[in-house]
Amino acid sequence: MDQLSPATDVNQARLLIVDDEPMQMRALCDTLRTRGYFTEGFTSPKAGLAALDRERFDLVLTDLTMPEMDGIEFLTAARAADNDLVGIVMTGHGSIDTAVAAMKAGALDYILKPFTLRTMLPVIDRALTVRNLRAENLQLRQTEEIVRRMNANLERCVEDRTRQLTEANNELTAFSHSVSHDLRAPLRSLNGFAALLNEDYGKLLDERGRDYLHRITGATEQMRNLIEDLLRLSQVTAAELSRTDFDLGQMVRSILDDLRRQDPERQVELVMKEGVDCNADPKLLRIALQNLLGNAWKFTRKTAHPRIEFGPVPDKPRTYFISDNGAGFNEAEAGDMFAPFRRLHSEADFPGTGVGLSIVQRIIRKHGGTIAARGQEGVGATFTFSL
Ligand SMILES: Nc1ncnc2c1ncn2[C@@H]1O[C@H](COP(=O)(O)OP(=O)(O)O)[C@@H](O)[C@H]1O
Ligand SMILES: [Mg+2]
Repeated sequence: MDQLSPATDVNQARLLIVDDEPMQMRALCDTLRTRGYFTEGFTSPKAGLAALDRERFDLVLTDLTMPEMDGIEFLTAARAADNDLVGIVMTGHGSIDTAVAAMKAGALDYILKPFTLRTMLPVIDRALTVRNLRAENLQLRQTEEIVRRMNANLERCVEDRTRQLTEANNELTAFSHSVSHDLRAPLRSLNGFAALLNEDYGKLLDERGRDYLHRITGATEQMRNLIEDLLRLSQVTAAELSRTDFDLGQMVRSILDDLRRQDPERQVELVMKEGVDCNADPKLLRIALQNLLGNAWKFTRKTAHPRIEFGPVPDKPRTYFISDNGAGFNEAEAGDMFAPFRRLHSEADFPGTGVGLSIVQRIIRKHGGTIAARGQEGVGATFTFSL
């Protein structure tokens, strides 16, 4: 058994050469080695298969007629050991039948004997390119498969989490709804008895006693507002969106008229653009605008010439703003101003529950939009929202 093995280089293509003619085998190994290939040669196909068990090769170049085992048998066995291997058979017959049989056994190409280096090199080169492409293709398909599986996994994860969150959210909404609802009855009785106490026994109380009673009534009023807001928050969360086209400006105007009726002593200027069309759920949007305009109305209470502005944001489709020249707020402290119960002003300065903006945010988010606030203390506030 003859074997020739030169020094190796990691990137070198590794050729396994099997030819029962020792001279021919040596000559092939030597010439191909001078062309930069790593070569290992055998005169026995069985020894060649044993080498394949030990080492990895890229390409086998095999003679077709050999006494121990013919080239087709050898190739079949070699490719059974390593499926990535590409094979070239060398044949003196050159009949179509043997070529077809060789191809069936997994040979990529064949070379007719006697051959020259010039005809052989392109065949080897092409076979190696095919091998590399196959490997790349396989890797690509494997990567694709991994990505596909990861995506499927991710989608399942998102679905699961979304379902869990929706369920938790629904439960919470139902819970806060029933709690708020149940709180109304004792509150009504508290309020009723405070009123009776005032009516029937008010004269028996001194100044301080009547002040306490007054404070109890004020606190129940505040709690009633809170409960109403919480109920509205849960209703808004549960509500189905039903969009139509309507004039947002007209809605702003009618809400401001309501505010004027409730608070007729106040003079608040309204600066707005007419005919601002929008596509939204009018019931929900009315609640959102009531809160935003209610805030603008409230926070301009101490301003000399109060003014509220409304309009579309230029160059931004479906985006609108409401601004006022009221108390404003410090942006550095306003991080979570849309969270429930978050208030940036004291109850004594500007009463409220701190739930309004969270209702507004939920409504805007339901419409697939966003809301942002800008403010400056003593100058005013601007709320920008998209639908
Ligand atoms: N137009 C505004 N100008 C200044 N501050 C505002 C304005 N709107 C909202 N804020 C701030 O955001 C807080 C939360 O608003 P909101 O949720 O409507 O609660 P509330 O009106 O009951 O206080 C307010 O307490 C206030 O500090
Ligand atoms: Mg408010």
